[in-house]
Amino acid sequence: MANPKSLSFVTENGSLLHGDVLETLAAYDDEPVQLILADPPYFQVLEDQDWDTSWPNAEAYLEWTEQWVSACRRILAPDGLLYIFGQLGKREHVWLHTCSRLTKFMQFHDMIIWDRAVGYNERSDSFTPQYEMILVLRPTADTPPHFNKDAVRLPYDEATIQTYLRDPRYKDKAARETHLRKGKYATNILRIPSLKGTSKEKVGHPSQKPLTLIENLIASSSRPGDLVLDPFMGSGTTAVSCEKLNRRWLGIEANPDYVRMTKKRLQAYRDSIPPDLFADPDRH
Ligand SMILES: C[S@@+](CC[C@H](N)C(=O)[O-])C[C@H]1O[C@@H](n2cnc3c(N)ncnc32)[C@H](O)[C@@H]1O
Repeated sequence: MANPKSLSFVTENGSLLHGDVLETLAAYDDEPVQLILADPPYFQVLEDQDWDTSWPNAEAYLEWTEQWVSACRRILAPDGLLYIFGQLGKREHVWLHTCSRLTKFMQFHDMIIWDRAVGYNERSDSFTPQYEMILVLRPTADTPPHFNKDAVRLPYDEATIQTYLRDPRYKDKAARETHLRKGKYATNILRIPSLKGTSKEKVGHPSQKPLTLIENLIASSSRPGDLVLDPFMGSGTTAVSCEKLNRRWLGIEANPDYVRMTKKRLQAYRDSIPPDLFADPDRH
């Protein structure tokens, strides 16, 4: 590769920096970021991908993890959140060490369960793994983070609304109905199907996350116009989600094929919506 950074590109709302996460974050001297969504290499889960197998042992992986998380902490806004995707199934022992080490220098905020809705049949010696954990950290205990629960409410179905409206304890039916039609708060178990091989959303990355999952995190944990960082951009899921939700974004990706994949995916997204809608600052 003559110039490893030559594939970096910018759009109206974001930039994708082609390069290594540590080098790129060390050079970052711009505004603080409100939200960081990090879906890092898992450590020897995808055994055919060199980006997931380049550490000689778990300790080396953990040290590297501490380095990039420290670099993220430096640029995270005081009321910002850092989401870190964990692993599935039998590698979770490394993930538990990861959580223990990171919460020594960042404040634990939450642990989200991403329920993938379908099991991943990788083991015969225990239950079939079906969830992944997402660790949520914030810079310090002192500053409350920005979090908008209303942005990720789940609608009740009509039958449930009608049942609840019959509850005699609520005298003001109109107020009760208005309340119910807002939907209920999402819990920290997010049941969102993982992408099947045949999914239209799939663009060819081996660990591509569903847009709905990423959109839930962005909608709840940032405001329109905020800057969102994804230090392991992969196929561009965070970039597309930010475009849809009217957030600015910054991505880092080391693999040139995935930089190209993100660019193509963003172009396909832009081509799929009418230009006047794209220009609407309130779109979400
Ligand atoms: C788990 S995948 C992210 C997938 C992404 N969330 C998506 O939906 O497509 C991790 C990504 O990190 C990238 N990566 C690995 N090591 C890196 C490094 N040192 N710096 C930047 N990116 C790296 C890999 O190329 C891979 O695309």
